[in-house]
Amino acid sequence: MVDATVGQGGHSFLFGKRLGPQGTLVGLDVDSRSLERAEKQLADLVCRVVLVKSNFADIAARLSELDLRRVDFILADLGLCSAQLADDQMGLSFQADMPLDMRIDASLETTAADIVNEYDEEALADLIYAYGQDRASRRIARYIVRRREHERISTTGQLADVVSGALRRPGGRRSRIHPATRTFQALRIVVNHELDNLHALLTAGARLLRPNGYIAIISFHSLEDGMVKRDFKQNERDGLYRLLTRKPMVADPREIAANRRARSAKLRIAQRN
Ligand SMILES: C[S@@+](CC[C@H](N)C(=O)[O-])C[C@H]1O[C@@H](n2cnc3c(N)ncnc32)[C@H](O)[C@@H]1O
Repeated sequence: MVDATVGQGGHSFLFGKRLGPQGTLVGLDVDSRSLERAEKQLADLVCRVVLVKSNFADIAARLSELDLRRVDFILADLGLCSAQLADDQMGLSFQADMPLDMRIDASLETTAADIVNEYDEEALADLIYAYGQDRASRRIARYIVRRREHERISTTGQLADVVSGALRRPGGRRSRIHPATRTFQALRIVVNHELDNLHALLTAGARLLRPNGYIAIISFHSLEDGMVKRDFKQNERDGLYRLLTRKPMVADPREIAANRRARSAKLRIAQRN
């Protein structure tokens, strides 16, 4: 099996325990610190464990290097681990003031600060609208451009402050989520090419699965979930997949109480014909 987002190895450990010594578990991650944590977590499994620092968009090339042509299971749990959100080098959180970076893969060149300080106002507004689905995108972009005329926006705190300022309405109702949530999501998607990577994984997945093999994707926002849904449906129409989840599976209230981030998780599973 391939865990395309091995992270801390939590899922891999549970699946790996069910694989015997003949089984192979391949874990991919773009973040070397995630791989270090996964290595410890998976040390006692009896199956063969191969951890590779790689973008899951390149899953086919990685498997071919390992002489694995087909697999029985592909799992992806998209997005970020809590450890990454808290990592003050990654600059992903507005809860703390961090350098405005957002690269999960340190070898990428463009940071969120580069985008925020260099894109023109229209391009900023377009990306906040397209990837953050924030209807106030034009106003947010205007505030960003106004602020950067005085100072470079180089921390998550500065950006969160500008966005909050753009969305503040005197006497207005407080939103359930932090006002900067959508802008941060948009920048993270663009910095890490998240939708392109997912598209590549979904395309490769159908070719790599053995008959009766499974692909299971957990996503955390509607842009990703929509892509997974459309891809699985198209593959069903083409006779390649059977859908095991017509509607996505979601966490129950007990799980959400134990892990707040699970509230937006959606799991879809398909089986290869
Ligand atoms: C939500 S965490 C996965 C947690 C994991 N399921 C566990 O049980 O510990 C997502 C992981 O995917 C990684 N990741 C995100 N985008 C990736 C990509 N395009 N290719 C490979 N790994 C990626 C992140 O670095 C992070 O470690």
